[in-house]
Amino acid sequence: MQKIRWGIVGGGEGSQIGFAHRVGVAVEEKFDFIASALDIDPDKAREFGIRLGVDSERAYANWQEMLKEENKRSDKIELVTVATPNDTHFEICKAFLEAGIDVFCEKPLTMTVEEARELVNLGQRLGRVCGVNYGYTGYPMIRQLREMVHRGDLGQIRVIFTQFAGGFMAESNWENDPRIRWRFNPEKAGISAVTFDLGSHAMHLACYVTGQKVKKVSSDFAVGVPGRELEDDSLTAFRLEDGTIGRQWVSGLAYGRIHGLSIQVFGEHGGLRWQQEQPNQLYWTKGREATKILERGAPYLYDEANRAGRVTIGHPEGMPLAFSTLYKDLAEVINSRKEGEEPDPSALTYPHFEDGMHMVEVVFAQVKSSRDGGKWTEVAG
Ligand SMILES: NC(=O)c1ccc[n+]([C@@H]2O[C@H](COP(=O)([O-])OP(=O)(O)OC[C@H]3O[C@@H](n4cnc5c(N)ncnc54)[C@H](O)[C@@H]3O)[C@@H](O)[C@H]2O)c1
Repeated sequence: MQKIRWGIVGGGEGSQIGFAHRVGVAVEEKFDFIASALDIDPDKAREFGIRLGVDSERAYANWQEMLKEENKRSDKIELVTVATPNDTHFEICKAFLEAGIDVFCEKPLTMTVEEARELVNLGQRLGRVCGVNYGYTGYPMIRQLREMVHRGDLGQIRVIFTQFAGGFMAESNWENDPRIRWRFNPEKAGISAVTFDLGSHAMHLACYVTGQKVKKVSSDFAVGVPGRELEDDSLTAFRLEDGTIGRQWVSGLAYGRIHGLSIQVFGEHGGLRWQQEQPNQLYWTKGREATKILERGAPYLYDEANRAGRVTIGHPEGMPLAFSTLYKDLAEVINSRKEGEEPDPSALTYPHFEDGMHMVEVVFAQVKSSRDGGKWTEVAG
């Protein structure tokens, strides 16, 4: 099987997320990195692409040139990753989809529900593979957690508690920091700050591990650091489609919590908990028995978890390798389509554009609920 021709827009030198995508792709060994438009600065975009080994004629100055030139080639890229700022995702994804190229987009998929719906419809109509990078779903122990929920190890799920609360935005002099300032500017960030940017990861994990959507929310958005136009802390009660009780806390003010992403799931037979800083361990408590620590790479895990792991037990794997799991899923789906075969069903759980759209819908409902004093608000869709 020939390697999949891959390109990336955004994720330039010094960006937060570009490196993790490049490592994620390289680890998977099923892709050739052959085209790029890495930076908003055209010179840096070209220079960095060449430095990373992209052929000089395919290290483009911007994504419009990349699209135009790639479209002329018989060996044009097959998959593009979009790792640019949020307000550019819609336009770039749409253009590449229309050119017949599969797309893997950073989260949030778009700034509005309408844009997300348009991309979902377009991807479906054109039969394209459309993934959105809720990358934490690629961790082996999140795949294990999902399998344990789906196979009924916990029985009926009663409560889910998700958090994405760290101290990333706790400084009082935040207006002097350009990397923080835009996040509280509605023109740049959209209708929400931390809940859109961070909270949607936590909410998506709740949906991912249960295979359900969020039905309704009751939210309290608050500003802890004076002068901010958008929330830096939010608390949401939610219900999934089957009535499962959900709780979500999102904050940029939680000094000492470092990254602060975690999920806990409580069912009728036991509870599971996982946190991003120790991604290789999943805590499993059956009823009132002593808690067991399940380890990534162990033979007692479900196949779906071990499929997502790469190095032997005891050696830490990190966030870029979680991204790599999503690239593995995408490669499986793209290659099976080429061969006219059915993909491995475990590859199909990667977050789709539909999931990206759902997260935009949830955040819009959370904002509405908060503006209505925490009133229970149905999620559209
Ligand atoms: N999935 C995750 O865990 C995760 C984590 C962090 C960021 N993100 C998402 O990744 C995206 C990028 O975030 P970041 O933190 O890396 O941002 P960043 O500001 O650190 O980097 C953005 C990069 O995109 C480039 N860029 C900007 N506009 C461009 C354009 N029009 N064409 C080509 N390149 C362009 C910039 O030059 C820069 O290299 C955002 O959507 C963000 O929400 C996702």
